[in-house]
Amino acid sequence: MKKYNIVIVGGGSTWTPGLLNSLVKKKNEFPLGKLIMYDTNGERQAVIGEFARVLFKERYADLDFMYTTDKEMAFKEVDFVFCQMRTGGYQMREKDEKIPLQFGVIGQETCGPGGFAYGLRSIRDMIQLIQDVRKHSKEAWILNYTNPAAIVAEAVNRVFNDDKRILNICDQPVNLLRSYGKILGMNPYEFEPVYFGLNHFGWFKHLYDKNGVDMVPVIKKIVKERGFAPADAEQRDKSWLDTYAMVEDMLNDFPEYLPNTYLQYYLYPEYKVSKMDPNHTRANEVMNGREKRVFEECRRVAAEGTVENAHVVHNDAHGDMIVEVAESIAFNKNSLYVVIVENNGLISNIQDNAMVEVTACLGINGPRPFGVGKIDTFYKGMIEQQLAFEKLTVDAYFEESYNKALKALTLNRIVTDAKKARKILDALIVANEGYWPELK
Ligand code: G6P
Ligand code: MN
Repeated sequence: MKKYNIVIVGGGSTWTPGLLNSLVKKKNEFPLGKLIMYDTNGERQAVIGEFARVLFKERYADLDFMYTTDKEMAFKEVDFVFCQMRTGGYQMREKDEKIPLQFGVIGQETCGPGGFAYGLRSIRDMIQLIQDVRKHSKEAWILNYTNPAAIVAEAVNRVFNDDKRILNICDQPVNLLRSYGKILGMNPYEFEPVYFGLNHFGWFKHLYDKNGVDMVPVIKKIVKERGFAPADAEQRDKSWLDTYAMVEDMLNDFPEYLPNTYLQYYLYPEYKVSKMDPNHTRANEVMNGREKRVFEECRRVAAEGTVENAHVVHNDAHGDMIVEVAESIAFNKNSLYVVIVENNGLISNIQDNAMVEVTACLGINGPRPFGVGKIDTFYKGMIEQQLAFEKLTVDAYFEESYNKALKALTLNRIVTDAKKARKILDALIVANEGYWPELK
């Protein structure tokens, strides 16, 4: 059986231990020859890297493992690149979230003004990364789940449109499928989802079980009766539990489809901002929670020299998904995933060059996505406004245009007012000096 070589870009991420664990779980079905962790921050990565050494010594003895900050060592002869970089780290995420709050609106690090700021930081590094990978491994699959995924995917698609081995994907649909599975008492791997939208901005239209029965009406009924919680609720911070609970509100107002949880920010921006502490946002929650937990636990494991009783994984959906996606491609399994691809008629009344999120079967030649036909006016309006925001953000990056940036922020549902957009933009420009192109 062929053994695969993988590099994890963002080896020092809090998500890495979970991913390593998933690779260990899959070592028989998806055997690895070489695993490399790569990060630009060697210090952070070393903590996770030393944990990994112990993990592999006990559970993956024949694996050729190393961690490095050297691009050539990282990208040579690899089959898969798992990409989870975060330009600016959590310190900049804190600014993405807090600066807009100074002007009375939510930051939101993916689809809000925070995502706009984060997007303008991420694009340059993502493009550079893909070029670096291609220098050393022309055929490698690049599985990208760097946020803000919608903006990153749009930018990557413009530059590398001919490169058919880049897949943009997000784990939130899988998190939701696992949560539906839990409330239904069913195996989420057996669902066939019909999903449409943009990243963090989409809806499940149908969810067929293996007998062809659509479970969406059943899920709606259960959520209305009992509310909604993530499958791994015990491991979640309170803000995530509040987020899942909002699905009930969304279903009361817009009962057609099951919404992605991130839609709470765009449907209820005023309500959500009223619940927010401007001095303590999600970035603080992550830095004081997940960050501390994961790094402390990795240090402890490295010191003790055993992973017996280790608790480094806070959410295995993420790691499992990315490994299973690679497996589905490598072995042409054609499993179903919700992925981000160029529209080209998949949503038939949305422009062709939108990067949309839909279900696809994933095999050796990449995603073969399923069309969803025409969508109704409300959803079309929501999607097109957000799409315009995303495209203008990417235009602003490539054209180094202040005016495009202002237009992008004005169109964002969380911002809406042009004077406010200008103030937020000016403050973000100062905070992102050195990360952003100079907007003229
Ligand atoms: C979900 C999203 C990701 C996001 C992650 C963590 O899985 O799909 O895009 O990065 O949640 O968010 P958090 O706020 O916990 O860092
Ligand atoms: Mn995501």
